[in-house]
Amino acid sequence: MDVLARKLPMQYRIAGTPLARLMDQAEVLERAIHELINEKRQEKETGKDVLSVLVEAAKIDGIEMNDTFLAAHAVILHAAAFITTASALAWTMYLIAQNPKFAAALHEEIKNNITDWPPTPETVEKLPFLDGLVRESLRLLPPVHHTMRTTTKETELLGVPLQTADRVVISAFMTHRDPAIFKNPTQFDPTRWFEGKPGPFQYIPFSAGPRLCLGYQFAMLEMKLVVIRIMQRFRMNVIPDSIIEADIRLTLRPVNGIPMVVNNPDGAFAASSVRGNINELVQN
Ligand code: HEM
Repeated sequence: MDVLARKLPMQYRIAGTPLARLMDQAEVLERAIHELINEKRQEKETGKDVLSVLVEAAKIDGIEMNDTFLAAHAVILHAAAFITTASALAWTMYLIAQNPKFAAALHEEIKNNITDWPPTPETVEKLPFLDGLVRESLRLLPPVHHTMRTTTKETELLGVPLQTADRVVISAFMTHRDPAIFKNPTQFDPTRWFEGKPGPFQYIPFSAGPRLCLGYQFAMLEMKLVVIRIMQRFRMNVIPDSIIEADIRLTLRPVNGIPMVVNNPDGAFAASSVRGNINELVQN
């Protein structure tokens, strides 16, 4: 925990302060992960979960990964892989439910094209409505709303001089709402993706360049498979009058979740009226 304390602006751990609470919780989490690492080491066969794979990787000659690193990787992967995908899927299911015309088109597309389970990645790739829906969800409500870069030397960006160690914020949220890149940017329209794709630095839910999300392809396939499975089995409706508030925490997420009802997959899609800032952020 020393590392964390050094990084935080307040170095002293005074009982009852938010920092002390954060440190207490971090220690509980760290202990739990160390116990899990030990459990994985006792297992006779290597499991397929990420932690088992990391524990195995640490044994490879030349890879220096002590238990502190292992625990740190496990936590970072949880945030990078799980929390992001959970936020994206929650928004995607919301947007499908609130846009009956596109929900019906997606339902048809899945019915006509997915006959086996699991479908091959190639089959999933060929579903334009599914692709447009997921991309549009990540455009309007990108879980990783912004990233940051620190300059390593003096430079200039669009005429603005930057000193060494200056921080530059890159906002996916703002970029994705630039009308010069996306016409009617607040409009939810999966069909805009049928007409060609923006440049790699204009659509950046997974960032771009050398630090592009490592799980980009995996996340897209995972989300599409989950949406397909849900659409095959259920019709989801948002509970009328729910308050849907997008909030910027670690990810851009629905702060109170998205209350939904699970129905039989009868194709009777219908939007519900909702309250909250989602009405300003997205036009259905
Ligand atoms: C919808 C889901 C996801 C979104 C929106 C997302 C977004 C991002 C973004 C924007 C970055 C760049 C962060 C930065 O530049 O500061 C990133 C990095 C990363 N992501 Fe994802 N991600 C998702 C899912 C995943 C999954 C499923 C995995 C792992 C299986 C993953 C692993 C990583 C890793 C390891 C990095 C760091 C890469 C590096 O710095 O070289 N992500 N992700």
